[in-house]
Amino acid sequence: MIYFVLALILLHTCQAIPEFNDINILVVTDAHSWISKHIHDDHDPSLNADYGDIASAYLQLQSLAAESNSDIFLLNNGDHVEGSGLSDASVYTNGIHGYDIFPLIAMMPFDALNIGNHDLYDNSTVEYMTGESGFVDGWNGNYLTSNVYNATTNDNIGNTHTILKGKNSDTSILVFGFLYHQTDACTAVNVEDPADTVNSPWFLSALQEGIDAGVSAIIVLSHMDLKDDNVYVLQDAIRGYSDQIPELENIPLQFLTGHTHYRGWSKLDDYSSTFEAGHYLDTLGWISFSADPTSPTWFDFQYIDANLEELYNFTGTTEDTFDTDLGLSISSAIEATVDELGLRAILGCPPQDYSLGTSNSLYDLYMQQIIPLSVLDVRTGTGNTPWHLSSTGSLRYDIYEGEFYYDDVFAIAPFVNVFRYVADLSGEDLQTVVDNLSQTSNDSPIFTGLPKYVGGPDDIDPTLFYDLFFNDYDESYIVPAVEAVVGEDVVVVNWRDDSGADDFVDTTLCWAKSIPDLFPC
Ligand SMILES: *[C@@H]1O[C@H](CO)[C@@H](O)[C@H](O)[C@H]1NC(C)=O
Ligand SMILES: *[C@@H]1O[C@H](CO)[C@@H](O)[C@H](O)[C@H]1NC(C)=O
Ligand SMILES: *[C@@H]1O[C@H](CO)[C@@H](O)[C@H](O)[C@H]1NC(C)=O
Ligand SMILES: *[C@@H]1O[C@H](CO)[C@@H](O)[C@H](O)[C@H]1NC(C)=O
Repeated sequence: MIYFVLALILLHTCQAIPEFNDINILVVTDAHSWISKHIHDDHDPSLNADYGDIASAYLQLQSLAAESNSDIFLLNNGDHVEGSGLSDASVYTNGIHGYDIFPLIAMMPFDALNIGNHDLYDNSTVEYMTGESGFVDGWNGNYLTSNVYNATTNDNIGNTHTILKGKNSDTSILVFGFLYHQTDACTAVNVEDPADTVNSPWFLSALQEGIDAGVSAIIVLSHMDLKDDNVYVLQDAIRGYSDQIPELENIPLQFLTGHTHYRGWSKLDDYSSTFEAGHYLDTLGWISFSADPTSPTWFDFQYIDANLEELYNFTGTTEDTFDTDLGLSISSAIEATVDELGLRAILGCPPQDYSLGTSNSLYDLYMQQIIPLSVLDVRTGTGNTPWHLSSTGSLRYDIYEGEFYYDDVFAIAPFVNVFRYVADLSGEDLQTVVDNLSQTSNDSPIFTGLPKYVGGPDDIDPTLFYDLFFNDYDESYIVPAVEAVVGEDVVVVNWRDDSGADDFVDTTLCWAKSIPDLFPC
């Protein structure tokens, strides 16, 4: 019995070389620009692998696969930007999220990529990807945006689908790239509801094209939760078309999901499953299955930590044999960019951790210290008490005791939203607004335990009058809630929106400006 338990633990903790099946896939999702290694002690084992190491792991597995005439594909499920200085420090140099990182991602040997919602928040980011950076064109038809269109031309931003052919076997796969029905994308793009896309003539033709080409499986890169309604919509649509294309009834169908930043797998029917492989490059997902449409598919999946020793074990290499020329050149290009952007500059030395959870709360620090020091430090002139309300999707990463790097500013608050306010709210009305907005908890699995909105710096006094501050991302939720309470339209005032001014702060800069004073080294 003890041996059995030990064996299970060993199986779970030591990554051995995988067994190759007909279809073998490595997947990265929601990297959010964490393509350099994690430098804080935020994971066990440590996340000391970068994109160059992911490239090497892929190339090493490819040569192993070749020995058994198998094939393996490396896929990316989107959300490249927003999450580290490599993506977002450029906002302060040339105004574009992702300016420095897309050329680095372009070096990766991905076989196909999807688009994520964060890649679509700014016109300038999408225009840079499709235009001057050459990023989208560089993937030669394998940058997939099945339901994302250029709003001016109505053309797909990338391609709707692709067929990837194996190098060592006659295996090929049909791949789509879907995004959930995002309604807050920038106006340069239109995101179509997947429920409508599956009724487009091109979708049925693409399925027919795949079957005619003899593909062994259909892969749907899906920038959406593992069990998002749209996963079922897509599954039902593909299986449903078996009335016209009989092969679609039993063809292995794999959803590679993301967006909600956790690890999970679930079976959908005898021949299909859905798999989500973490976030922030904490996970290299492995999924492998047989292409036999005559007996139910066995899906073998693993979550490989982005840890070098695990990657050595998983690829049957050692520290001495693991690296590849391509991997090394990607790693050095990443490190050169990190240096150029000054991302390892130390801004402060926090005496303790602050976490997105409910104890040692980062949100308490944000509400009670960061915002009062950097946003509410100048009066509006109304004589009212300033008060700030924020949704709890705003902050993305913990503060760690010890050194606080310039890069941490972007890890914590990558979104660069400006502040605005509504003047003259009675304490009672403000309390009603806050109660209304914070009654639901944050439904994202990454932020469990937090209410949907938090405010501060102090408790609301019903006898006072307030100026209510918020950022421009939350504005479209907060202002209607205010208007519902006061019963009329309200005026929204920009707060120090002259980004050239010395005292200008946005949701990102407020950290950069207050950390050195708050946590001197
Ligand atoms: C790698 O494999 C070795 C030898 O089996 C094992 O001792 C070690 O714990 C493994 N490392 C990881 C991180 O899984
Ligand atoms: C949409 O297409 C127009 C015309 O080709 C182009 O100028 C524009 O940059 C495209 N927009 C995006 C977001 O790619
Ligand atoms: C974004 O691009 C669209 C389409 O070209 C344009 O109508 C809109 O004004 C742009 N928005 C911003 C903020 O630049
Ligand atoms: C809460 O806010 C919404 C708008 O965001 C509004 O429709 C609703 O009436 C509000 N409820 C109360 C009790 O104010």
